[in-house]
Amino acid sequence: MGMIGSHTVQKLYLKEWCKNGMMCALHERKKITPRINPDNLAKENDFYKLNELTEEDVRFIKQFVAEPNNLGLSALHNAVLKMFTEVFELKKKFDTSNILTTKCEKMFEKIIQETGEDFHTRIERVLEGFRCKMRTGNLSFYYDEEESVSFLHSVIVQLFRTWRAKNAVVESLEYSLLDENGDPAPPQAEAAFKERRAKTYNLLSHMAAINLSYLMHSKEVKLALLENDTVIPFITSDQPVVPMKDFNLELEDNEGNFSLELYYPLSPTKAMILSSGIHPLSQTKLEDNDIVMLNDIMAASSLRQIYSNNVDVLKRYQKKNIAVFASHGGSDLQAIIDGCVAGVIPATVCVVISNNSGSRALERAGSANIPAFHVSEKKFPKNYSEKIFEILQSHKADIVFLAGFLKKMPDKILREYEGRIFNIHPSLLPKFGGKGMFGINVHTAVLAAGETETGITIHRVTAEYDAGEILAQRRIPVLPGDTPETLAARVLEQEHIFLVEFFANL
Ligand code: GRF
Repeated sequence: MGMIGSHTVQKLYLKEWCKNGMMCALHERKKITPRINPDNLAKENDFYKLNELTEEDVRFIKQFVAEPNNLGLSALHNAVLKMFTEVFELKKKFDTSNILTTKCEKMFEKIIQETGEDFHTRIERVLEGFRCKMRTGNLSFYYDEEESVSFLHSVIVQLFRTWRAKNAVVESLEYSLLDENGDPAPPQAEAAFKERRAKTYNLLSHMAAINLSYLMHSKEVKLALLENDTVIPFITSDQPVVPMKDFNLELEDNEGNFSLELYYPLSPTKAMILSSGIHPLSQTKLEDNDIVMLNDIMAASSLRQIYSNNVDVLKRYQKKNIAVFASHGGSDLQAIIDGCVAGVIPATVCVVISNNSGSRALERAGSANIPAFHVSEKKFPKNYSEKIFEILQSHKADIVFLAGFLKKMPDKILREYEGRIFNIHPSLLPKFGGKGMFGINVHTAVLAAGETETGITIHRVTAEYDAGEILAQRRIPVLPGDTPETLAARVLEQEHIFLVEFFANL
């Protein structure tokens, strides 16, 4: 017992990304630490601590133990079940026999604390052995039955430590499974079911890992190495084994076709892919855009941290801080806030500024706990632009977005944030833009000109109204019978969708 007992991500694994013992990390998509020693990463030592399971929990788990005729699997499932429950049974026996001394209790506590940890540590060591071989280009172990099963198992255990796989397991355990007689269970049973599902995940994930690794072995999943000769290194993360497509546990379609693609970087220049067929990436020389695509998948699968040997590569995955300026309703602002909260937009609205103290935008910011300021030339006649600059700086704005802001941006801000200020306009610029073209005026002009289509434009902001470089446009038809109001409403509705798409890909 007590082999290592202190790990979350694999320190040995991360050494490959280190120069002189240090690597770069991006935390929560926000803060970059240019030099960090992997040994100093999260050190919780009760990550895999065993949960005491009730008899009902065990009955619940037993539903997933393979049939006895499936000898290999059922033996393994039962072994895991035993490992996770034996210590508690023994403790109970000590207790009922009145021999549970304080010393014994401490010993049991240590075992409970360390069994899961040690189990994971052992599996990690197995994987490290295979990683070393793969880094030298040696895949021969994969052709040995025993070694390949052990390799697949060690990878899949890592997979089931990720939030993606956890979600897949949770989704696959339907609430109806609880219902033994096929009768609808009472509503309160659903909450109890969910609690049990979370409590038993640790054990269930090991059973699922056994099943999946055996399935992969029987389906002759291919193992391939990827060599990265580009200048962009592979990044990795706190969840480094990643499914390349949406992942659920239904890996076979109705015709029994099995499909799975797992990506796992081994170092900044080497990675492996496990896939049900020969993977196209393993057949070509990798280009910059392939590496970016793989890095993007890794970043999207990370939980809290992304790691690299190159700080610049991490910047792409840093969440941007957006400062939003708005004068009136703020429905565009709301769409941006909602997109950020939902995680669709990799950014945060760091501050909202309005020239209008009665703007709904300020209220909306308040409800979302976003700092909000009323700043107008009237209120700050002497230092209007300095005031805005100070707010942007103190809230660490990376991008400025004008979502229905009716005032010109002061020159100082245009200079300081050059190229990083964007505006949304409700027409297909350069048509129907410029001075006086705001609000309902735009749509009135579109109809008066007899246009059959209008749209939305997002462009960079310059000193001139609506004249900067166009970044994105969406066309919207003008319908017979449209009034300026119906057209305005339809365009605004589309703006909310368009904005989220724009920021999601920024
Ligand atoms: C939008 O139509 C936008 O294109 C324009 O101002 C309007 C803002 O609407 N620049 P809201 O205040 O976000 O509801």
